[in-house]
Amino acid sequence: MEPIADPAQETIRIDSHLSGARERSLAEDVLDGLTRPFKELPPKHFYDTRGAELFDRICELEEYYQTRTERAILAASAGEIAKLSGAAELVELGSGTAAKTRVLLDALHETGTLRRYVPLDVTEQLVRECAHELTQRYPGLQVHGVIGDFERHLDRVPPPDGRRLVVFLGGTIGNFTPGSRRRFLRQVRSLLGPEDHLLMGVDLVKDPDVLRAAYDDSEGVTAEFNRNVLHVLNRELDADFDPRDFEHVALFDAQHQWIEMRLRARREHTVQVRALSLAVRFAQGEDMRTEISAKFTQARLRADLSAAELELVGWLTDPRELFAVSLSRPLAGEPGQVSLTP
Ligand code: SAH
Ligand code: TRP
Repeated sequence: MEPIADPAQETIRIDSHLSGARERSLAEDVLDGLTRPFKELPPKHFYDTRGAELFDRICELEEYYQTRTERAILAASAGEIAKLSGAAELVELGSGTAAKTRVLLDALHETGTLRRYVPLDVTEQLVRECAHELTQRYPGLQVHGVIGDFERHLDRVPPPDGRRLVVFLGGTIGNFTPGSRRRFLRQVRSLLGPEDHLLMGVDLVKDPDVLRAAYDDSEGVTAEFNRNVLHVLNRELDADFDPRDFEHVALFDAQHQWIEMRLRARREHTVQVRALSLAVRFAQGEDMRTEISAKFTQARLRADLSAAELELVGWLTDPRELFAVSLSRPLAGEPGQVSLTP
């Protein structure tokens, strides 16, 4: 893929691995997901420009405790994380607006080790905006943005430039199903050398009412975000979904300990996806699953990490244990636990 040079800023480089591929992947996902007996769409298609804005609004909601809790955990421990990792580069998967990442970048900047930030996200505009903002905020910082899919393009992350800290925040790891979560963690493991670390935010198992409220807020922002995927399909695949025909549903699955986001058809109807010559029939009350968001215990995370040959070396949480930020490293590294407390 051709790197896209940015004449304004020589400290910025952006590589795009999605030109055309995003449309293809959306078409494949729709063809595959909407012809199944239980309809399903993968969550990465939520995040067009409007979806990213709605997600930002979710992060500010009273009910969505995740963002402010993760930020507070990071703020309390950023200095320690920076010292322990000694990172020269920070690679962020699903970087978004990198709002919370600034806490870490500040700390790494202060310890003087940081040279490069590598944000990777499917949403081109987010990668570009955050690259510009961060080079202004941290003079001398190189930003090498990667526009890509973290399930398919981790091999496009540029070769390491010194000790590396890979960060994956927001509880996004919970959006994988269990098997693909482990496959993903094994790929992340291959980005790490023996001295490198992975810092990952996970949402914790808790009272289902608190979880349901976080995914079905009183202002209806999450409902709008969920329905936004229908606008994406209409625009990108010339479909004729009427978002008013679908109700937002957030269900807690106690057996799997995850929240499921669904769109439920209010009436029986058929949608045309013209770009695929596909007619999709919905029965009244039929659900289409748009996301799962798995909730963790430390044991659950340890099991996933060890399946990917990673070991947990730090577990940072808030006093109410709503959310945790985990620090791990490749298992083949030196033995011994580092204890980190916020
Ligand atoms: N890290 C930020 C954003 C979390 S929202 C935070 O903690 O607030 C999830 C982010 O991951 C969005 O920016 C979305 O565009 C991105 N994303 C979702 N699926 C992706 C995929 N398959 N590949 C790359 N980025 C993805
Ligand atoms: N990664 C976020 C989470 O699982 C994404 C998210 C928050 C989300 N609210 C949502 C996705 C509502 C779909 C619908 O918490």
